[in-house]
Amino acid sequence: MNFDVYKREIENWMESYFASKPKNHQTYFEPMNYSLSIGGKRIRPMLMVLTYNMYNKSIEGVLPFAAAMEMIHTYSLVHDDLPCMDDDELRRGKPTNHKVFGEAIATLAGDGLLNEAMIIMFHQCMDGDLKKIKAGNIISKAAGAEGMIKGQIIDINSEGKEISEATLLEMHRNKTGALIKASILAGAALGDASEDHLKILGEFGEKLGLAFQVKDDILDVEGNLETLGKTQSDLNNHKTNFITMYGLDKCKEICKSLTEECYELLSRIEKNTEELKSITKFLLERQY
Ligand code: IPE
Ligand code: IPE
Ligand code: MG
Ligand code: MG
Ligand code: MG
Repeated sequence: MNFDVYKREIENWMESYFASKPKNHQTYFEPMNYSLSIGGKRIRPMLMVLTYNMYNKSIEGVLPFAAAMEMIHTYSLVHDDLPCMDDDELRRGKPTNHKVFGEAIATLAGDGLLNEAMIIMFHQCMDGDLKKIKAGNIISKAAGAEGMIKGQIIDINSEGKEISEATLLEMHRNKTGALIKASILAGAALGDASEDHLKILGEFGEKLGLAFQVKDDILDVEGNLETLGKTQSDLNNHKTNFITMYGLDKCKEICKSLTEECYELLSRIEKNTEELKSITKFLLERQY
């Protein structure tokens, strides 16, 4: 599959973007670039590129939005790791942003990444192309207080508490699901997908997003620190998550059946969905 080629294209785009900033501004971008360039699976931008690629051969038009999404996701990680949130020391195999630059600069690095993402998307929309405006709308909404932020608030407020199944689902659907679903839908919007396809891809995004966070919770228990490249802190932080609600075995079953449902949804689309199926399989089997 084109997985590695596309990943490199996304990373090259982000690298060139920061390199294009004036030399005397580089110190402001360094803490942002640190967390962005040290690694990461690049799942969200990949999902956007692969979805777009079902409708367009060239991926050039989707790259700025894919990069913006990865910047928003990376900002959420920088803030998620702060002492006032999950208080973690390792991310993407390296010390977390605040361990390197201090809490104040790490907070600003997160803010900076979010704003840079918005600048990139607005700049893209200057030509008035409605497809781009729709993509920007999908992405910015998913990052906000009715999306990722909402999920993070529920996560923090649920520490050490028993919560209902509905609240747990609401938390996962938003803190992780929102950006994953938006990646797929933004790729589809840029590709001018039909309403029918948007509906199926939206459902696919919801199920994949949920499976992704359940797997993340499993890896927090079972994963290996070196392979994972991040601290496993859910137990210490008294997190309420899928593991505390259902236990490990049931979580593995949930992941498998959500993955099967994802395949089924994709098979309803009369396009080449092989690469989206491969990335879905990779996410189920991943160890990091
Ligand atoms: C981790 O996301 C945070 C969650 C939303 C679960 P990823 O597992 O995609 O992290 P990176 O981007 O590969 O570092
Ligand atoms: C974080 O969830 C989700 C976001 C950053 C929005 P987690 O707190 O479970 O992510 P990890 O495990 O630290 O990567
Ligand atoms: Mg967290
Ligand atoms: Mg965390
Ligand atoms: Mg986690």
